[in-house]
Amino acid sequence: MVFPPAPSESMEWANLGLTVKDNVNGHVESTYSVLTGEWTEPRFVEDPHIKIHGLAPALNYGQQAYEGLKAHRGPDGNILLYRPVAHADRLAISSSYVSIPEVPQEHFLKCVKYAVARNAEFVAPHSTEALLYIRPLVFGSNGHLALSAPTEYTFAIYVQPASAYHGVQPLPACVIEDFDRAAPRGTGGAKVGGNYAPVIRHTQKAAQQGYHVTLHLDAQTRTCVEEFSTSGFIGIKKNGDSVTVVIPDSKTVIQSITSDSCLTLAKSFGWAVEKREVPWSECKFFDEVIAVGTAASLLPIRSLSRPSTDEKFVYGEKAGECTQRLASAMRNIMRGNVKDEFGWTYTLQEKDLLLPEEPKAEELKAEEPLIEEQVIGYNATQDIKAATVTINPIPAPTSVAVEA
Ligand code: COI
Repeated sequence: MVFPPAPSESMEWANLGLTVKDNVNGHVESTYSVLTGEWTEPRFVEDPHIKIHGLAPALNYGQQAYEGLKAHRGPDGNILLYRPVAHADRLAISSSYVSIPEVPQEHFLKCVKYAVARNAEFVAPHSTEALLYIRPLVFGSNGHLALSAPTEYTFAIYVQPASAYHGVQPLPACVIEDFDRAAPRGTGGAKVGGNYAPVIRHTQKAAQQGYHVTLHLDAQTRTCVEEFSTSGFIGIKKNGDSVTVVIPDSKTVIQSITSDSCLTLAKSFGWAVEKREVPWSECKFFDEVIAVGTAASLLPIRSLSRPSTDEKFVYGEKAGECTQRLASAMRNIMRGNVKDEFGWTYTLQEKDLLLPEEPKAEELKAEEPLIEEQVIGYNATQDIKAATVTINPIPAPTSVAVEA
């Protein structure tokens, strides 16, 4: 078998967006039972729909958490997963916020690799900008009315060929004024649906006003930058040749893995990095601002507006040079164009298909004579029923009770 298979010829790789088309082979499911304390082996399901009890806490109380990671094709046709271990660890953190048992790192990796391997032809050709978006999710899935822990959880992994969430052209962003995404001691640091759905009506309103990206400030003081609705925040200051990358440090923002990659890359370029509180008032001093996330990639922000104060900080119609350098370094690692010095990528292998193992040649050899010996070793006068009973890998019986 040639693995991985070539990209499917039926896909319009240049024209994907984020639309769910249900055109992949299927998804992976694994179930956890509180009674056994174990996750089942991953199973591949062709139907995109999941069977879930209508009274499951996931549907009624929002007991769910999710992840988003990506796969690309390298120049040699191989498939590379980007930072799967970091995503496994983040899902465990998000799960703890909503009382979901941790999907062990090894199990997360096995299931994600299996989902991508079974959908390998949907990983775009290296020459295109498309990507395979991978969406692991975990939720309380049995019927359970009390506001207490249910007994069954489902872990599922979906994949979807896609392109960058907001495109790649710089976009104007605005502060969301009349809604706080996360309470000071709340769940803002978790990648759970409850942090996303309430934002939708505000992002819709902002889009009608021409802002396709929205920014959240801290709920307690409304003075510090937290994160964009779909992605993390990065501000960049330049002073001659020296560059400083600033990332908000807050317990109520998602720990962005893309942002963490930018930070590591910035350090490797010799730039200064600061992870700290970022006052809104500092935004006017940034030379470049980027919205960073798995789905958003590195989206340059054209301007930041705050309608209630009439402030508008402009960063430019084109991606700044630092944004471009970070984006291109990350892109090259994700797509296998350069050596991955950080150990961020995993190259998918045929074994990730979890095919049943074929017996090894030595094993076959060891078994054959045993069967022969047993049969041959039988006295021809013994009846055939007794002989067949002994055809198994157990040593030939010397004192077997032979039926008369
Ligand atoms: C991601 O970037 O993977 C996310 O989960 C953000 C979501 C709004 C698409």
